[in-house]
Amino acid sequence: MHIPDFKLERYFARWEFAAPYLLCSSDIEGWRQKDLLALADADSLARWEGLTLGYTESTGLPALREAIAGLYPGLSPGDVLTFAGAQEAVFVLMNVLLGPGSHVVVTWPGYQSLHEVARATGAEVTLHALREEDGWALDVEALRRELRPNTRLIVVNFPHNPTGALPDAATFEALCALAEERGIYLLSDEVYRLLEYEPRDLLPAAASRFTRGLSLGVMSKAFGLAGLRVGWLASKDAALLQRCMAYKDYTTICNGAPSEVLALMALRAKEQVLARSRALLTRNLALLDGFFARHSQTFHWVRPRAGSVAFPRLLGREPVARFIERLVEREGVLLLPGEVYDFPGNHFRLGLGRDNLPAALERLERFVQQSPRP
Ligand SMILES: Cc1ncc(COP(=O)(O)O)c(C=O)c1O
Repeated sequence: MHIPDFKLERYFARWEFAAPYLLCSSDIEGWRQKDLLALADADSLARWEGLTLGYTESTGLPALREAIAGLYPGLSPGDVLTFAGAQEAVFVLMNVLLGPGSHVVVTWPGYQSLHEVARATGAEVTLHALREEDGWALDVEALRRELRPNTRLIVVNFPHNPTGALPDAATFEALCALAEERGIYLLSDEVYRLLEYEPRDLLPAAASRFTRGLSLGVMSKAFGLAGLRVGWLASKDAALLQRCMAYKDYTTICNGAPSEVLALMALRAKEQVLARSRALLTRNLALLDGFFARHSQTFHWVRPRAGSVAFPRLLGREPVARFIERLVEREGVLLLPGEVYDFPGNHFRLGLGRDNLPAALERLERFVQQSPRP
């Protein structure tokens, strides 16, 4: 398979471990292993201490699948298949479901693999545009018009990367009903799920809603454990999961044994783990609201509704990529230009989940105050 570079990863490869202030990361601040171990229940601690470092079950550690299934009303451990991150799940699922002759509709702007892997399978891809002027809202009627007789898959991602958009429950239900009525699979990339700012905004998971609803989850975002590389697909379509498992024999075969047990610990302590993530987001969002209110001449801010990223816009004539370059050189603060998403205009991605956001924002503020606006 020939596939173009993943622009976001190539961008991070240059800066991620060089810039001290990552103000554009999408994951929540990573847990220290010793802090996570301190939360472990007796059973998972015993698993950790007695762990054998051999191959693991290719469907995923049974206790881990049980803990993951617990996130989805109506699902059982057999409805969960684990992967090395959400990224592998996207790659495998699309290779199983798509190919020449099939058609996919994918929300855009978006995480590149959601449309790039689809295209690389030979499928035709329609990008369903979300627009800033509509508050990045999903338009189900417009999406309905984009469907074709050979549409096999609809891909959405809410809470949305990069805008933080989240439809209301009625809109999400209309989307699920549309996919169900047409017999189309719905890949619902829910990797930022559980990071809603208001508990009432939590949407039902696609996998709980209908058989062709596929929920994509991961430990990287809401749980702050990106380094584990543990993700999953949840679905009541047993035959599809079976095909994905067989495909996985050619990618990673199984998860890393230590990662599975650490993920299990975090899921069993999910109240504490999620409370830490949400507290970080609440603190950081309040700071960002203040910052953007003070700098409304310089930036246009559409407040995210959920998740750990936002997609503001730099006003004025300076290209945002140039602004970002000057900022990282002068202050060591990294932002992500919208061009990494192939998105026109002067947008940039902000990450809301890092511990050092207050210090990064102070530096950004100093930079904005000191640098002449072209
Ligand atoms: C929307 C979306 N889906 C999937 C992924 C992949 O997650 P992971 O890198 O943990 O595999 C990401 C990561 O940023 C993402 O933002």
